[in-house]
Amino acid sequence: MDERDLDPDPLATVAAWYAEAAAAGAPQPDAASLATATTDGRPVARMVLVRGVDAHDFVFFTSRESRKAAELAANPWAALVLYWQELRRQVRLEGPIEELPRTDVETYWRTRPRGSKLAAWASRQSHPTASREALEAAYADADDRYPGDDVPLPDTWGGYRLAPEVVELWEHRADRLHDRVRYERDDDGWRSARLMP
Ligand SMILES: Cc1cc2nc3c(=O)[nH]c(=O)nc-3n(C[C@H](O)[C@H](O)[C@H](O)COP(=O)(O)O)c2cc1C
Repeated sequence: MDERDLDPDPLATVAAWYAEAAAAGAPQPDAASLATATTDGRPVARMVLVRGVDAHDFVFFTSRESRKAAELAANPWAALVLYWQELRRQVRLEGPIEELPRTDVETYWRTRPRGSKLAAWASRQSHPTASREALEAAYADADDRYPGDDVPLPDTWGGYRLAPEVVELWEHRADRLHDRVRYERDDDGWRSARLMP
């Protein structure tokens, strides 16, 4: 990786790398680790599926009642890490988070399989449940309540958008002399620096 050959917009490179990872057969190229932090500075991470890796915003969908939603409400800044084993490339993204408008959430909701929609009704994500049976009973209730394909969008389900202000591109090289280029966005655009591995 030679930063002189890379697009000055790192998100163009991320989009290109994502397409290459998908073409190389990466089983889940949109899987990313999402890190949030509590207001007292404790980091928390979990996997999400990032929709729109080929665009300039990184969008994921989740429950608005989840632990991550509470953390993002209190501290709307997050980091995402994508790793494509097939290409031995890592992308790190950091930036502010916004909730998506309900119309965008509704549009995505309609593309989801019916079972996933029912699960969103049945599960109060990140909250304790009495048992597996209780969860399955809640799912069966939702199945009875919404028998057709037209399962409505619950208020408790939503989407978030991370607009990166820091991007780091990492590529494996021999002898652990990996390539790292870090980009930071300011008023004039992106500034880059090569980092030691
Ligand atoms: C590969 C993978 C993808 C996932 N994608 C999502 C997702 O897009 N949205 C989501 O809410 N949870 C997703 N999960 C589950 C989360 O990792 C997590 O368990 C859940 O969102 C609750 O997290 P929280 O308690 O920190 O809010 C995914 C898990 C894995 C392993």
